[in-house]
Amino acid sequence: MELLEKYDKLSEQLLKTFEGKIERGDAIEPRDNMPDGYRKHLIRQISQHAHSEVIGMQPEGNWITRAPSLKAKQVLLAKIQDEGGHGLYLYSAAETLGITRKEMIDQLHTGKAKYSNIFNYPSLTWADIGAIGWLVDGAAIVNQVSLQRTSYGPYSRAMVRICKEESFHQRQGYEIMAKMMKGTKDQQEMAQDAMNRWWWPSLMMFGPHDGESPHTSDAVKWKIKRSSNDELRQKFIDKTVPQAELIGLTMPDKDLKWNETKNCYDHGPIDWNEFYRVINGNGPCNRQRMEHHARVHHEGGWVRAAAEAYSKKKENI
Ligand code: 3HC
Repeated sequence: MELLEKYDKLSEQLLKTFEGKIERGDAIEPRDNMPDGYRKHLIRQISQHAHSEVIGMQPEGNWITRAPSLKAKQVLLAKIQDEGGHGLYLYSAAETLGITRKEMIDQLHTGKAKYSNIFNYPSLTWADIGAIGWLVDGAAIVNQVSLQRTSYGPYSRAMVRICKEESFHQRQGYEIMAKMMKGTKDQQEMAQDAMNRWWWPSLMMFGPHDGESPHTSDAVKWKIKRSSNDELRQKFIDKTVPQAELIGLTMPDKDLKWNETKNCYDHGPIDWNEFYRVINGNGPCNRQRMEHHARVHHEGGWVRAAAEAYSKKKENI
């Protein structure tokens, strides 16, 4: 009995130390003691964030060979390369919590792990590349700037590095949209069509409304999230609407209206049926995204084997 009491006392002390660090806003580091729930929550969120970065390379990769100029191709290539790097930072941050890269990839391929809803839509025209950079990366920046202050050290440091590159992504997308809106009527219609198709799924990126989010209360308690889904969504809307109006795009939301009292935009209802349909595997491109990822992962097996063999050889020298 005495041993059990000692164990309970020690566990209580360790929890108090963890809670004290969270309270003070100290970073939790990989070797720190942490509740299983905290570790599990982070592995889920960080690995899904990493999957999103890598899967997000597909819709944009679709336009590398069809970019309208050499410069546009170079900028798009740089952006896509950045996203791959973001995925690697985040997989490495998740690995510090005790999950292996193989386990994370298996979870993705078996549908156990999600990735962002937004990457299950097709990139139909060059204007989509503009809308993705401007709206998708714009939404990601709003979320990721907040995540720079997340309580888990490796995740927060990865966010600081990633946010520096995301602002270039958002700007390159906005520049594409601005250029097209100054172009021919066809180009303006193409840009407006992309706006219409990407606006609402970009709002869904922030997750369900706060009252419907099963993870937000823990995320806020453990300072993993420093703002709620709705707070971040609102910040994105308030920042993006003036940008759209500046270049002459029409917002695809007839209920969008500035609310003087609340000092922010009121917006129309989000189609959560579409959101859950897409994140549960039934979006326009879910199957294609997974098939591509699984095929390329298999084809790249020899690179991983060679890298492992090399690092083993180096260890034995
Ligand atoms: N897409 C897919 N699934 C989503 C989602 C979305 N946009 N929003 C929420 N979900 C899922 C959650 O994963 C959770 O399901 P799970 O239990 O199976 O994981 C469920 O819906 C409930 O959602 P919650 O809001 O309760 O879940 P979270 O507290 O995890 O909040 C989140 C969701 C806001 C996406 C949060 O996980 C987060 O901030 N993640 C980090 C940021 C991120 O992943 N961004 C993805 C885009 S990355 C990107 O755009 C790259 C850029 O360079 C282009």
